[in-house]
Amino acid sequence: MQAHPRVQQYLDAIGITPRRVVDDFERFVVQRYGAAGAAFLDLSHGRADATQEEADYPQLVERLYRAKNASWELSRDVTSQYAGRQYANYLSLFVAAKEPPTAARIIDIGCDNGIATCFYASQFPDAEVFGIDRCAEGIKCAEHLAHMLGLKNVNFIHGDAFASGLESRHGETCDLVAMTLSGYEALEDPRLTNASLVAFLHRLVSPTGTLIAMEPRMTAMLDEVNKQFAEQVLVNLFFDDSGGNEIAAKVMFAHKQQLGRDLVLHDD
Ligand SMILES: C[S@@+](CC[C@H](N)C(=O)[O-])C[C@H]1O[C@@H](n2cnc3c(N)ncnc32)[C@H](O)[C@@H]1O
Repeated sequence: MQAHPRVQQYLDAIGITPRRVVDDFERFVVQRYGAAGAAFLDLSHGRADATQEEADYPQLVERLYRAKNASWELSRDVTSQYAGRQYANYLSLFVAAKEPPTAARIIDIGCDNGIATCFYASQFPDAEVFGIDRCAEGIKCAEHLAHMLGLKNVNFIHGDAFASGLESRHGETCDLVAMTLSGYEALEDPRLTNASLVAFLHRLVSPTGTLIAMEPRMTAMLDEVNKQFAEQVLVNLFFDDSGGNEIAAKVMFAHKQQLGRDLVLHDD
């Protein structure tokens, strides 16, 4: 899939580069970032060898995010390697969907280093945009990126999104709630269920607002989204990474009565 020109321009501006051969990338990370790069790689290999059932898996993931986000530059280069194409595809789908058409408030749940959040802020300069993430280092990177881009309409919050009382704290709902590849991680917390996670999103989205949920192999969660949001405007991007590097995103626009406008996009 060809990136939308506006998206490509944004990714170029923030320094997202093409993926490297794995060995070259690992050498580059150690040469450029020294101990911080080596620490990230160690944790990354550790996660690849671990299984989600292991008791310390959540701590391993937390340490991995902290190490990846040790600096904006390392975070950006790791994103280039592992998620550059994914952002190019996702943000191009976002532009193509034209949802929401306008927005006064936007929130990005699990915003990590703020790459998508800052893109939303640049596309909706009049909107108030928030990103929330439980990784403090990720929030610092996101703030750095917003500053670098000169964005004045974006704010980042450090905390567990689903335990944050975000909806009551701000007392206002959002025209766009985006949750991309964060819900499946949040669901590793046994206190959260598909139903409670989606109920939280439902409270956060304004009655005429848009929800974007893009998660890997999360059919149960997306079923719950469709149930709880019923008639509301929403965009479900079903992210399916089961085919190695191939990204197949099934996009379902459930736009009030216009249910069933399905689109399947493949990236090769
Ligand atoms: C795989 S990354 C996805 C980042 C980004 N949204 C994207 O599309 O690439 C998952 C992010 O969700 C965050 N996260 C997971 N559970 C969370 C929670 N309960 N509250 C806030 N952030 C959470 C992690 O810290 C991490 O930054």
